[in-house]
Amino acid sequence: MYLEFLQENMMGPNAWLMAQELTADLPLQPGMRVLDLGCGRGLSSIFLAEKFKVHVFAVDLWTSATENYRRFQQAGVAHLVTPLQLDALQLPFAHDFFDAVISVDSYHYFGSNDTYFAEHLKPLLKKDAVVAIAFPGMKYEVHDNIPKEMEPLWPSEALDMWHSIPWWRPKFQPHLHHFQIGEMDCFDRAWQDWLACDNPYAAEDRVMMDTDNGRYMNLIKLTGLLS
Ligand SMILES: C[S@@+](CC[C@H](N)C(=O)[O-])C[C@H]1O[C@@H](n2cnc3c(N)ncnc32)[C@H](O)[C@@H]1O
Repeated sequence: MYLEFLQENMMGPNAWLMAQELTADLPLQPGMRVLDLGCGRGLSSIFLAEKFKVHVFAVDLWTSATENYRRFQQAGVAHLVTPLQLDALQLPFAHDFFDAVISVDSYHYFGSNDTYFAEHLKPLLKKDAVVAIAFPGMKYEVHDNIPKEMEPLWPSEALDMWHSIPWWRPKFQPHLHHFQIGEMDCFDRAWQDWLACDNPYAAEDRVMMDTDNGRYMNLIKLTGLLS
């Protein structure tokens, strides 16, 4: 994928790289129905369609379906990707519909609680469906003891969403087999690519990431098959 196209469409740490690492060992096959949940401007959806020839349902709340459709046409994958502007809390799909759900840098906005997966997502997935989710998190739960220098840089709503691997593990482990959770190897590169973008949000994040300096924040990936 061209760097210029990626830089125009990144909304956080490089979603293309994150999708690449997240899906590296997944059994995705051409023709499978894949929900790309919180796809933003669709970088991960384009990646999935190009690499695996799966049929992607590219769902996002903030980005319009028309905007994403134009991008999917531009990328030559519009025949494989269905753009939809939907709320992850009100997904209108049939039960047992998807062979996989992939979510890059968005699940924490709507799923950082004990019930989202079981109530909203699990019913839509076939048995043994692939579940692969990646999001920003913390190396440990900092919430009761926020480092002084980070206090002005971490908005409280972000702290509600950013958690550690031990915090996330029990939200998924009971529902999945072949479950794995860990830090992403692409952390540095994915963030550097985003921070280099000419985007006011990237400029704000630059201060935060410089101050953090690799001490508190990470990127977490989890994968498994629906039990
Ligand atoms: C930081 S952006 C990341 C977008 C994209 N996945 C990427 O990595 O470039 C977070 C995305 O989460 C999506 N999002 C937040 N809340 C959502 C919800 N309730 N339903 C669907 N998408 C949601 C937003 O629309 C936004 O595009």
